[in-house]
Parts: sequence; structure tokens; C-alpha cells
Amino acid sequence: MPIIFHEETGQFHLFNKDVSYVMELKEQFLVHVYWGKRIGSFTQSDTYPKKDRSSFSPNPYRTNDATFSLDNVLQEFPGFDSGDYREPAFEMTYSDGTKATQFQYASHTIYSGKKRLDGLPATYVMEDDEAETLEITLADNIRGIHATLSYTIYRDRSAITKSVQYQNMSEHTIQLNRALSSCVDFDDAAFDLLQLPGAWAREKQIVKTPLAMGIHVLDSKRGASSTHQQPFIALLRKNTTEHHGDVYGFHFVYSGNFTIRTEVDTFSQTRVLVGMNPHNFGWQLEPNAIFQTPEVVLVYAKNGLNDMSHTFHSLYTERLARGEHKLQERPVLINNWESTYFQFDEQKLLHLADGAKSLGAELFVLDDGWFEARNDDTTSLGDWVADCKKLPAGLANLSSQIHERGLKFGLWFEPEMISEQSQLFQAHPDWHIHVNGYPTSLGRNQLVLDFSRQEVRTEIVRQMTEILDAVPIDYIKWDMNRNMTEIGSRDLTPQQQMELPHRYMLGLYEVIDYLTERYPHILFENCSGGGGRFDPGMAYYMPQSWASDNTDAIERIKIQYGTSLIFPPVMICAQLSEIPNHQVGRITPLQTRANVAMSANFGIMLDLNKESQETLDAVQQDITRYKKHRQLIQFGRFSRLISPYESNFASWSFTASNQEESLVFFFKILGAASEPFLRLQLRDLNPEYMYAIGDTTYSGEELMKFGLYLNPDMSGDFQSKVLHLKRLVTKM
Ligand code: DGJ
Repeated sequence: MPIIFHEETGQFHLFNKDVSYVMELKEQFLVHVYWGKRIGSFTQSDTYPKKDRSSFSPNPYRTNDATFSLDNVLQEFPGFDSGDYREPAFEMTYSDGTKATQFQYASHTIYSGKKRLDGLPATYVMEDDEAETLEITLADNIRGIHATLSYTIYRDRSAITKSVQYQNMSEHTIQLNRALSSCVDFDDAAFDLLQLPGAWAREKQIVKTPLAMGIHVLDSKRGASSTHQQPFIALLRKNTTEHHGDVYGFHFVYSGNFTIRTEVDTFSQTRVLVGMNPHNFGWQLEPNAIFQTPEVVLVYAKNGLNDMSHTFHSLYTERLARGEHKLQERPVLINNWESTYFQFDEQKLLHLADGAKSLGAELFVLDDGWFEARNDDTTSLGDWVADCKKLPAGLANLSSQIHERGLKFGLWFEPEMISEQSQLFQAHPDWHIHVNGYPTSLGRNQLVLDFSRQEVRTEIVRQMTEILDAVPIDYIKWDMNRNMTEIGSRDLTPQQQMELPHRYMLGLYEVIDYLTERYPHILFENCSGGGGRFDPGMAYYMPQSWASDNTDAIERIKIQYGTSLIFPPVMICAQLSEIPNHQVGRITPLQTRANVAMSANFGIMLDLNKESQETLDAVQQDITRYKKHRQLIQFGRFSRLISPYESNFASWSFTASNQEESLVFFFKILGAASEPFLRLQLRDLNPEYMYAIGDTTYSGEELMKFGLYLNPDMSGDFQSKVLHLKRLVTKM
């Protein structure tokens, strides 16, 4: 039984074979006790030392105990204006204009399985016995508000999910100003904080800093999770590496504004809060109404960062992604963006498709520029009708021509946007997010449609379904290229205006949910100018994401390495592109470009007319090589071996779950004279198996304990090699 409640001590113990999470009721307050390595039998209770830490740490009057203060106890759901001066998990304003709130235990329930979150993405179970859920209802009966905290622990994964439901039990509207999803208090601060900040074309860079006294905020106020921050942090015990050490990962399953706050207080206790950003957030909670927060996934790993990633990877592949594609091998695609940008016609596209087919590509993706006079990025968003000059025979004809060539057909959309130069804008000049009578900023010459409004969503869905019902389409690239400004919605009351960013997300999720359910055969790829909304919220609806607009192989090594901390390779799309690279101008050998791109969900973005026969032959071989190993790369166990953030090298491997084979990728970034030799120890093999690499045989044990020297024969910049290990059937 993974969740136990001890009546006598008021203690909750969530556990499975790897992890324990312990909380208890102290004077009816829900306090945190422990999260970490599984403890089979947790016998202690009321463990936290009691000390009167002065009158400046107030004591709740109902306890009348100077040694108990909410100001320094470890809490699960810290409140507002009631004696805890650290960062709160919630904040509301009541009808009298005041805010003090003190939640106390009211009831709890434990059940098998996990409920879906209404209208929100979340991890799930297929069978009830995969997980157990604890719901604890806390109440402030004077204010008339309930908060139900949900905790789900998976039976076979080191993952716990948390979310909160607020219910207004009073007769007055309650204004929610802050409604976070999770708080975890640790009793010390000996951690490094790892985050994944970035920018456009430089997504998910690994940054690690010691946790310091005070409040540290990571957030997005952009209306999307953004390239600038990922809604993720990990707290690492000192000296944690890829393979050793305690790691506490937090990942928010949401695609809008978020906040992750770590606070180290004066007693060196650490609080980690995760949830929707209070910035530009407010919610009018009417009597009896419920507000559901998105969920947070908490992963504890006892064996370093790879251990954490393995939990995220399998959870996201198996129990976050949905639909018929989630466990299916993904097609090798060709995308026309970098080879044509907006300048193409049907003939050019078909020529590209012919070339792609002969190289072995399986899916042809027509990117931006196919609709109504869209010749640059200043016009036409909102008018989803094929451009009659570029595609005079229409989309259906193009689709059938592509299909006749034996390729699948994919199409780009940016459904959430509107151009001022568009018929949709002419007809509905107030359908975008804006403040009435106030100028609206442009981003990439476009405006954001107000997806909080039903009529807007209905019209976009109408336009898209008209195409999708008429034209055989196998894949959609769903792009989103600007962030929100001048937050305002025509349909919301003044008191509700700050609900817009969240209402937008709910509207977006509703639309994507509808389309993915209506067209289950379509493979959706999430994109936001690259990885600008590559988060678990979108991964729930779309099983793969374009990781970055940066297609330079060398930059991609870091981007994909960082992304792999939380997302499995099958969700990370990468494409082999031309040189000089369009984003950074670098010239990188074809083999290395191919090896980086095929370390994920592989595709090509080349102008095949421009490439030499030699290059085309090599690309054809790369595609064949990828297809041969596709199952292993897309669904094998991925481990990071050498970090490009810490050396001139990078390495990672993909190993079959039965350990029969493994692919090891090794990259040397810059050529260097007299450099040290590097012995690479492999991972995930069976120590008792013998493996062949080419004509040479090794034991799994020696490959993992001793390893292989990989760099002595590599010279020049941007070099790479791939080793294929295959088990030899004779046992040692
Ligand atoms: C941004 C995407 O990330 C690119 O791949 C491409 O689709 C462009 N948008 C098209 O405008």
C-alpha cells in the first residue's frame, strides 16, 4: 500500500520502492516531515525540534504554544498573513478587503488511481493500480474557503504529483491573487539549484548555482512558459553528478505564466514553491465555485541527474503523452523552411519532395507561407486558406501529389495569431488581446488572438477543420511566435481582467484537445519559434516538439543535452540543416550535423538542389542508419555520459531495455593540441554480457568500469563518432 495514514500520530506516509514522502498534522496544521529515499517504516512522529524562537515568530493563538510558530515550521501549504513571513503558497482577498488565512486539516481520503484534471494537462494512469492518490482537505471555516491538496504517488516510478483545488464555501466572492500548486519545505539549504534558462535559439541551457539565502524567483510573465525559462528546477545535493547524488526535480505541467520560488530563510530552511505566476493573475472565485491549479511533477532521484531524467522520460513517454502516436516510431521528415522560407510554389515543393523521397524521408512538411498572400511575416495570420498564386491547384492537390510519391503530408499552422493585414482582422479588429483605447505592441508584426473568447476559438477551429476535413493531412506543426502584451479582454469584467492569461491557456488547451481528439491520426508537433513553449503542458497534447530554431549542430549539442534533462529524445525534434548554418554561420562536417540531429527525433531541412551528390548520398545513408536504430533512439534508455557544459566533449547513449544493444554518440567540439586522453565509461549495459563493437569484443563490465579511449584519433573541430554495441550471444 503506497499511502498510509497513522491515526495516532496524524502522519501520512506516501512511499513506493524508491521514495518516501512524509507529512503530519501538528495542531491540525499540515506540516512537512520528509521527502527522499524510501524509508520502509517511518516510526518517529512530531520530530521537528521545538524551540521558542522569540516573539517575532508569532504563535497561532489556537495552539497557545510559544515553541510552535508557522514562521519556522516546515509546511505543506503555507498561508498568508497568519504568522509565516516566508513566501506563501496562496493569497486571497476576502469581501472585507483583508487577507489573513489559516488553513487547518478538515478531512482526507485515499484512493487507487489518479483523477484527470478538468481542462488541464496532467500525468495520468491507465490502470488504477498504477498509482494511489491522497486528497487532504484543509479549511478556513471563518473565511469559508477550502483547499484540497492532491498527492499522487506512482507505484513503479519515483514520481509524485501535486495540485490544489480551492473551493469557495462562503456567500461572498473571494479574489484569488496567488494560487500555487505545490510547496515543499526542506530543513536545510545545502543544495545547488539547477535551472534551464535560455533565449530564442539558445533554449534550455544548464545553469547550476549554490542556493543562497533569500528568495530566488524563476518565472515567465510572457503568457507562455517561454524560451527564457523552463518551468523546472532541480535541487542537487553538493557534488551531485550525472550518476551520483540526491536530486529533487520539480516540473510544472503548464504552458503559461509560472513561478518557481526558492526561499532560504534565516534558519537555513529551504522552501520551494511552484505554480502559476501571481503576476497578471487574479481569479474571482464565486460562492461554491472551484478553482483547479495545474499539477507539479516531483521527482526524487538517488543516483544523480540521469536517474532523475530516466523517471521524467518514462513518465512523460508513457503517462503524459497521449494518443496513437505516443509509442509509435516517428517518421523522418523533411521541412522546407530553411530551404525556401516564404518563396516557393508547387513545383518547387514537389521537386523537394521528390528529392526527399529518394533519400528515404517519410514525411514532407510544408512550413509557413502556404496561405493567403503570406509572402513575408507581415500578413495573413488568421486567414487559413491556401494561397492561390503559390498553390493554384490547392492544398488537396498538393497533398495528393505528395502522397502519390509515397510521402506523408504535414502542414504548418500558427492558429493563435492574427496579422493586422488579414481578412480576419478586417472583420474582427477587436479579436486580439488588447486594452481598449490603448496602443497594442506588435511582435513579429502580429497580435495574439484572444483565445479566452469562445467565438474566437470557434472561428479558428472552423477554419482549421475545414482544411483538415477536406485535405488528407498526417502531421501538423503548431507554431506560436510572440508573447502577450497589453493584457485585456473585451468580454471580461474589470475585476476579471487578470484572469485572461489563465483563461487563454484553458481556451488553448480546449482547442488542442478538441483537434487532437477529432483527428487522432494526425501527428502534432509543438513549436514556438523553436522551444518557446516546449513544456509538459504541451507535451500532454502533442507528443513531439521542435526544440529550437537553432539548427547549428554545435549549439544543438548543448540545447539537446539541456532539454534531455526533462524530455526524452522521442519528444525532441532535430533536423540536419545546411552550411554555413543559418543561425550562427558555422561550417560543421556533415557527419557531425547528422549525428547531432539523429540523437533525437530526426529530420532534414536541406535545399536538396544545392547539395552535391556526395552530400546527398551521405544523407541517404544517414537516414538509413537512423531508421535502423530508430526504435532504440526513440524508445531506448537515454543516458548522458559527458557534459558539453563542463568539457570540450559531449557524449550520450541509447540502450535497449533488454540491454542487447547500445548506441554511443561522442562529440569533440574543438580541435586541441596535446589534449589529455579521455576514457569514456559506458552506462546501462549488462555487466555479464559480451558486446561487439565492430570486430572487437568487450565485456559489459569492462565497458562500464574501465571504458574506452575515444579521442586519440580525432583531429579538427566539430568531430564526432558513433559506436554501435551489439550483444554477442555467448555468455562469459
Ligand atoms: C518559427 C519556427 O520555429 C520555424 O521553424 C518556422 O516554422 C517559422 N516560425 C515560420 O514562420
